[in-house]
Amino acid sequence: MRYYVLFTFVILLQTMNAQFVANYDESKVPEFDLPDPLTTFSNNKILTSTSWTELRRPELINFFESQVFGKVPGTIDTIDFEVIEESNSALGGVAKRRQIKVTLSKNGKTISYLVLLYLPKNIANAPIFLGYNFHGNHTVNSDPEIIISDAWSLNNEAIGITNHTLTEESRGMRSNRWAITKMIEAGYGLATIYYGEIDPDKNDFADGVHALFYSGSQKRPAKDEWGAIGAWAWALSRTMDYLGNNSEIDKTKVIVFGHSRLGKAALWAGVMDERFAGVISNDSGCGGAALSKRRFGETIAQINETFPYWFSENFKKYNNAEDKLPVDQHELLALIAPRPLYVASAKEDEWADPKGEFLSAYYATPVYSLFGKAGIPAIEMPVVNSPIHNTVAYHIRTGKHDVTEYDWEQYIKWAVEQFH
Ligand code: GCU
Repeated sequence: MRYYVLFTFVILLQTMNAQFVANYDESKVPEFDLPDPLTTFSNNKILTSTSWTELRRPELINFFESQVFGKVPGTIDTIDFEVIEESNSALGGVAKRRQIKVTLSKNGKTISYLVLLYLPKNIANAPIFLGYNFHGNHTVNSDPEIIISDAWSLNNEAIGITNHTLTEESRGMRSNRWAITKMIEAGYGLATIYYGEIDPDKNDFADGVHALFYSGSQKRPAKDEWGAIGAWAWALSRTMDYLGNNSEIDKTKVIVFGHSRLGKAALWAGVMDERFAGVISNDSGCGGAALSKRRFGETIAQINETFPYWFSENFKKYNNAEDKLPVDQHELLALIAPRPLYVASAKEDEWADPKGEFLSAYYATPVYSLFGKAGIPAIEMPVVNSPIHNTVAYHIRTGKHDVTEYDWEQYIKWAVEQFH
């Protein structure tokens, strides 16, 4: 009996381990059927851009909403914007700076966040990149006027963040991830927000924007409702409510950008809100650009285990059951068509499955073709540092999971081509 218990225990441990040991071996990628973006769930072929837009797109959105990212449970009661700080001579005189407080109210509850905006000084109506930062607006540049958020933060000792508190010590510490000078030189602006002001990145549904939508004694969203990624994506749209009415910005050229978990949020925001003219996914990986059915690097089970609050509760049905998923992430990308989309990977970022990110962009291409737009022309991955700049763009660069000068050089060059 004792041996039997021990034996069962050992088997159980092995199963748990097997479940969470990431596969990095291409020969062990399982065989799978990739759903065809141009065949509806009831097996009808999509032959025109109109039937894509009227039939297929809505059913895919519906699936990603209720089963993956979760639905937003309503609309906000009021939204207010207040410019609380501005300068017409920032960054050594080449840029204008604006800091805007956005206040969202619902059911008598409110939440506020700050948008930091840099605009090229000599352009009346500038295109912009919009993207979240991980550790506070004040980390994106050493500009002493950037207001430091008092919201909870993940610790990061390397950049001076301890006690979950943002301080002066981390000012400018992430400027390497934001090539602001290059953007300004190219005639582009940047709008950035600290994502922790929308929803702190921890397993807690009592804080952040979710709580504004609860009724009665509700403590967490319903199974088909939004997780943290859905919340971050939604607030990008609330920010667009402001940017779209700002005469200093060209509202037809707002490109939403995100790295990693915030790349997942940028993709979902780009899908749900067609006011975003273009979308950039930097190393977004599992639940972002990477194909889930490849089970390479991070898997659905792994992401839902480590971050049980990122997706809808329903998404957990697909833990170790990718075969049951009637969609994959190439269809998420296809939902952005015909708008420009850039997917980028890093060679050493195996956790995010660079090949899965590339294939996803490749398999989204037939939808772009329906609109007469060029996507990824061939199934072979390009070699490192050789970008493909079509309406659907892709690069894999050397190096690690990060946002680098090289990434921004590509994004800026491509944006200038796409949105001239
Ligand atoms: C973790 C997580 C990824 C995510 C990444 C990030 O590695 O597993 O899914 O993309 O964090 O946001 O940096």
